[in-house]
Amino acid sequence: MVGMPSDAPRSWRVHRLGAPADALRLEPAQPRPPGPGEARVAVGAIGLNFPDLLLCAGRYQERPALPFSPGFEAAGVVAETGPGARLSPGQQVVVVPELPNGALQESITVTAAELYPVPDAMPVTVAAALHIAYQTAHVGLHHRAALQPGETLLVTGGAGGVGSAAVQLGRAAGAFVIATATGPRKAEACRRMGADAVIDLAGEPDPAGRVRAVTGGRGADVIVDVVGGAAFDWARRCVAWEGRIVIAGFTGGIGELRTNHVLLRNYSLVGLHLARYRRENPALLREVHDALVALWSDGAISPEIYRELPFDQAPAGLSLVSGREVIGRVLLRTATA
Ligand SMILES: NC(=O)c1ccc[n+]([C@@H]2O[C@H](COP(=O)([O-])OP(=O)(O)OC[C@H]3O[C@@H](n4cnc5c(N)ncnc54)[C@H](OP(=O)(O)O)[C@@H]3O)[C@@H](O)[C@H]2O)c1
Repeated sequence: MVGMPSDAPRSWRVHRLGAPADALRLEPAQPRPPGPGEARVAVGAIGLNFPDLLLCAGRYQERPALPFSPGFEAAGVVAETGPGARLSPGQQVVVVPELPNGALQESITVTAAELYPVPDAMPVTVAAALHIAYQTAHVGLHHRAALQPGETLLVTGGAGGVGSAAVQLGRAAGAFVIATATGPRKAEACRRMGADAVIDLAGEPDPAGRVRAVTGGRGADVIVDVVGGAAFDWARRCVAWEGRIVIAGFTGGIGELRTNHVLLRNYSLVGLHLARYRRENPALLREVHDALVALWSDGAISPEIYRELPFDQAPAGLSLVSGREVIGRVLLRTATA
């Protein structure tokens, strides 16, 4: 950018709502000096998420005043701390910042509540990919749906960010995992990531019938639905007796339901809004973070990283997400990484 000092930290900011290429502007931004308990983090990698598209477009549940930095998760190293901070400079961390001070920044100052320590052995790219999607999947599977070993788990959108995390975590929990994806490339990725059975939705006229066939007629005990819309409509038709459907996302639209179906088929519908846990039950998110780090250390889960792009290519990264091309995650890397 013309006139920007070459060593000044930069931030992506939304100045007007729209598609990322129109909405985002890259500009110098000096983070505030850390106050009591706070830390400034030199960001190494940033995870891009589907909700970043919604934020840029003004369609996310939170609508920060313009201009704001989008971005839900980043990883890096503590560069400077304020008085009384619990973490020390040099500590590797995941940053889950509160809007409007989002994660698409090279340097960011956050409170202790927005920081999660990660071990040095974890690559910064893994740290940036292991938070939002995996936390969503973990809280959905365990806290909301009480998935048990030996149960059948169906994941819609199994090749995406949250979906691939749910596939891996379901497998790690001892479930029989069925994933859906569109097209052979994504279907193969679901198999590689641990799904026991995969339904390629391209040209599949009856996905619910396929799930029933794969489960001997019983259906899926737990369904993690990140797609919604038509996917929710067919998925609810193959839920097992006393099954649980986790409503986790709406990439394909918002599903609709006549409630007599819930009664007659005797299942539970549970919602999942991860960000609300920061206010309602932050201790749970810390427990889940520790569990995810342990699962990664044991080799039980490993984020699928589709593409790493330089920090200044945020709009290109987000267009991969909106183009429905991504398997797993897209990351931005800063020059410090
Ligand atoms: N509940 C929470 O707290 C929480 C937290 C994070 C994210 N989310 C939500 O979870 C959803 C998934 O996020 P993500 O980051 O995992 O997204 P993602 O990586 O883009 O994956 C979503 C999947 O949805 C399918 N999809 C995308 N566009 C679609 C369309 N127009 N019609 C039908 N299917 C479509 C794609 O699967 P195929 O192409 O294989 O069909 C894609 O792999 C989003 O709605 C996001 O807002 C919720």
